[in-house]
Amino acid sequence: MSKEKAKTRRSSSPTKAKSKAETGKEPANAGYGANDHKSADLAKNAEDAAGEYLTTNQGVRINDNQNSLQAGDRGPTLLEDFILREKITHFDHERIPERVVHARGTAAHGYFQVYESMAPITKAGFLQDPAVRTPVFVRFSTVAGSRGSSDLARDVRGFAVKFYTQEGNYDLVGNNMPVFFIQDAIKFPDLVHAVKPEPHNEIPQAASAHDTFWDFISLMPESMHMIMWVMSDRAIPRSLRMMEGFGVHTFRFINDRGQAQFVKFHWKPLLGLHSVLWEEAQQISGKDPDFHRRDLWEAIENGDYPEWELGVQIVAEKDEHSFDFDLLDPTKLIPEEIVPVRRIGKMILNRNPDNFFAETEQVAFQTGNIVPGIDFTNDPLLQGRIFSYLDTQLLRLGGPNFHEIPINRPIAPAHNNQRDGHMRQTINRGQTSYEPNTLRGGCPFQAGSDLGGFTSYAERIDARKIRERSPSFLDHFSQATLFFNSQSVPEQNHIIKALRFELGKVETPAIRERMLFLLAQVDKTLAQKVAQGLGASVPKKLDKPMNMSIPADVLPRKVQPKRATQAIDASPALSMIDNPNFPTETIKTRKIAFLLADGFDDAAVLEVKQILKTAGAAALTVAPRLGVLTGINGTTIKADCSFLTGSSVLFDAVYVPGGEASVAALKAEPEAANFLREAYKHCKTLAASGAGTDLFESAGFVTLAANAGARADQPGIVTSREGNLKILGLEFIQAIAQHRHWEREPTV
Ligand code: HEM
Repeated sequence: MSKEKAKTRRSSSPTKAKSKAETGKEPANAGYGANDHKSADLAKNAEDAAGEYLTTNQGVRINDNQNSLQAGDRGPTLLEDFILREKITHFDHERIPERVVHARGTAAHGYFQVYESMAPITKAGFLQDPAVRTPVFVRFSTVAGSRGSSDLARDVRGFAVKFYTQEGNYDLVGNNMPVFFIQDAIKFPDLVHAVKPEPHNEIPQAASAHDTFWDFISLMPESMHMIMWVMSDRAIPRSLRMMEGFGVHTFRFINDRGQAQFVKFHWKPLLGLHSVLWEEAQQISGKDPDFHRRDLWEAIENGDYPEWELGVQIVAEKDEHSFDFDLLDPTKLIPEEIVPVRRIGKMILNRNPDNFFAETEQVAFQTGNIVPGIDFTNDPLLQGRIFSYLDTQLLRLGGPNFHEIPINRPIAPAHNNQRDGHMRQTINRGQTSYEPNTLRGGCPFQAGSDLGGFTSYAERIDARKIRERSPSFLDHFSQATLFFNSQSVPEQNHIIKALRFELGKVETPAIRERMLFLLAQVDKTLAQKVAQGLGASVPKKLDKPMNMSIPADVLPRKVQPKRATQAIDASPALSMIDNPNFPTETIKTRKIAFLLADGFDDAAVLEVKQILKTAGAAALTVAPRLGVLTGINGTTIKADCSFLTGSSVLFDAVYVPGGEASVAALKAEPEAANFLREAYKHCKTLAASGAGTDLFESAGFVTLAANAGARADQPGIVTSREGNLKILGLEFIQAIAQHRHWEREPTV
């Protein structure tokens, strides 16, 4: 090596941050909360290269990471280059299989705290003491798309929570919808095969709008309730922070006297329930396919920690059969108006993962991970899930020791006689790995239930072995109707349009026909309106039995759906707009686009920005170009995005401040008017002050009276030509808090 070369290499020696080895401390940016047991546990495996030398995996310092070892200037690479081989080999094996479903996801750390002891109804340790913070790791996901698919697919969102309790891990593996497509786990592979891209051409990605999905659904009337949810705006959330979560199945709570009650779990977001429009969702998929992932990440980085309250619906054992549906049927919910949701604690997400792969990708949720005080019911979907998760993770994570991966290992100590296997990390000491034994004094030994040993709820079962759907599961339409009836008019319109879109993408006429027939069982007007959009008519009857999952000659009568009488006609808690559970609307963390150019009115920008900031919203500048913009009085503002890199669909509302020169520049930029028109079409709040109001007029969607201070004549349009900026700002906040102004939307 030449002297010159050696010099260059030495000069690349580290000078930045001091290493952990040097200081004996975690780097300042590690971000672990002092009292968070799980974060402290994860920190044991954290690596931070700041201030460190580059080494091989064997810890040998590397002198040259630019050139492989070769025989002479232009010669072949030598096999002995262990540095090259180690690096390339590791790279070659970096990928693991993506999840078979819910492959696309994002996650965060946080904690859960119960409001008051739940001892009378459950002995679960983490639900006893309001002073205890239980660490959680939460992964949100879509179901059908691949790992790299868009966040904005029309789909169910997974809402999986791992509680690292002192008594072991408890996983509440839920969704953002309270019911499911199918009643029996044996249909899950069929459902997933049907919704995934079609096998012959792998089209379409992350979309249910294709023949195989609707072919399957049209033969599975039990899916109709879930179809109403998936066609509603719940399937296209504005933010993962603004959606509910549900455990779906009925579970059991058990107290320390062994008494059981049924329980349904809910997560209620404190930011309210909000969605985007389907047209926006499609545009966001192009503009920012990481929209939800980015939103969650940024909120946590900004200290806007998302919060949910854990709600429970409790049903006494004696009331098991007092509903017009079966509590074990996962296509049914218990209307909140019949059994209220009691909010028992709060979850706060306050830390982003350090490493996506190590944490978000390797986390393994499992419905079978329960703790004393919680137990299963015989819901046949739940029963299948308890098997499925562990089974799939054996393949996905490569062997039986994935519980040792830092994100999966419990904070409760684990001791048993399970041994060895692929990539075993634990070094089990001692001579024995069996039980009973005397050589190790019988350790590890069983724990009595008084010492926290898990005992399954002793449910009495005395039955014939059968393959049959319970007749109590055969009402497939009543709750689908209840859901549709409970929606506001705009929400109903969105369902109709979603069905027109989805079925419009179906190429086989018979599938559409079967779907229209099923929709007519839910609501005749709904079916007619969908049919109208498809240029079809609703069939009066179909020849084939509707449920093909059990052959008609085996159980011809029993499998035909039947309708039960409903205790209520509508449940406002099912609507996002009319929902009484979210009475106070906040604009916290909402993103407001300020359209401006050089020559903006300084006060009109700064004052309104401050008013929005006080309400917790963020003002972002969108301009004809990037760089620094200067106001009339010399204020400088950095453009957050240009019309090329930003888009109205990425914002919740738009404001055009005055300033003749700024407005003139915006008028000369066709994208500015498009921005406004689009936001208007998507029923968002638009505000303008001073000359900014001219842009509204020139965009052509609103008539403003010419006189100063006049208000626009449309809902969600807030303007003031000469008026008070304070009043404008406050009116703006009120209008944004309504989320959208659906009166502006054309009816179906
Ligand atoms: C109420 C119905 C269901 C809900 C709420 C649900 C929820 C979820 C969620 C949230 C995930 C993502 C977990 C994560 O973030 O890693 C997931 C993954 C998965 N689910 Fe389900 N699921 C349901 C039904 C089923 C059924 C019936 C089966 C099979 C019988 C099943 C099998 C799977 C599998 C295999 C994965 C991938 C797990 C992994 O690779 O880690 N799910 N499910």
